[in-house]
Amino acid sequence: MWRGLIEAYRDRLPVTEATPVVTLHEGNTPLVPAPVLSQRVGADVYLKVEGANPTGSFKDRGMTMAVSKAVEEGAKTIICASTGNTSASAAAYAARAGIGCAVLVPQGKIALGKLSQALVHGAKLLQVEGNFDDCLALASKLSQDFPVALVNSVNIFRLHGQKTAAFEIVEALGDAPDIHCLPVGNAGNISAYWMGYQEDREAGNSTRLPKMYGFQASGAAPIVNGKVVEQPSTIATAIRIGNPASWTKALDARDSSGGLIDAVTDRDILNAYRLLAREVGVFVELGSAASVAGLLQQAAAGGIPAGARVVCTVTGHGLKDPEWAISTAPSPTVIANDALVAAKALDLA
Ligand code: F0G
Repeated sequence: MWRGLIEAYRDRLPVTEATPVVTLHEGNTPLVPAPVLSQRVGADVYLKVEGANPTGSFKDRGMTMAVSKAVEEGAKTIICASTGNTSASAAAYAARAGIGCAVLVPQGKIALGKLSQALVHGAKLLQVEGNFDDCLALASKLSQDFPVALVNSVNIFRLHGQKTAAFEIVEALGDAPDIHCLPVGNAGNISAYWMGYQEDREAGNSTRLPKMYGFQASGAAPIVNGKVVEQPSTIATAIRIGNPASWTKALDARDSSGGLIDAVTDRDILNAYRLLAREVGVFVELGSAASVAGLLQQAAAGGIPAGARVVCTVTGHGLKDPEWAISTAPSPTVIANDALVAAKALDLA
């Protein structure tokens, strides 16, 4: 039985027998072949479906580690800033551990599903008049001045948890892929995957390293522009970040791997979101679709070698943000309770 990623990778994580494992059996997510994408880009494309984690995003990988270590160190309350998913995950793992959880989110800029998760798990949630970067600065200050443990990805245990996704991919494919595409927000995840791929090669589990391809939304692309974005703006609220905490680590992942970090427009993100839902059968949130939007953009520019093995991480479940799914689809027709009327409305008769 799968017992969560700490048990699965105990010898490769900074835990000891004394660490109380707080787990919801996260990890072990599907690596799904995407033939429609493979055909479009002339490569062999897989999706690492992180929406299959317990709270519906990759954040659970980091949170099992961060909360286990916080409890080990005696924390009674954890705190985070979030665009939504981190808060949902922190709230669930804090509930599981029986400790408190405080969450700072940008007012009006987090998806409804994520807000409902933080609330239902009993987090104390504050909506801050500011953006994510302001929330992170506040959370860091509070963690310095008060007895609360910060569980944002500046917490190194988070990255150790998240690196296990790379281990799973190498196990599933028998080696590392040629290219790995990810959405980039606070830049923790691309840094964590890069750590995981490097460790796997050092351990002899893989023979090569992938090129890391990260994608930011064009209205929130500080790494691409080389400067902080004071007022980040994108429909992909998960990655609406103007001053990523792991900026330097992400640059290292990009440069050491021979990869790139580029921008995709909101329109490209929305098109990839629809394509994933309608032709691949995988419902992701908008921010997650940035990895696939980036892959399609690179392929159009001739940047994906024929037959390359490519993994795109789709980071969060589409149900996190049902409003987008509904508002971009035609409204369902209301009909009388009648078979002929139904058949006509369905173009069957
Ligand atoms: N995709 C989703 C669905 C996310 O929620 C995030 C980040 C990212 C991608 C980007 O990952 O920050 O490691 O580069 N969400 C954070 C949060 C910021 O608060 O939930 P990153």
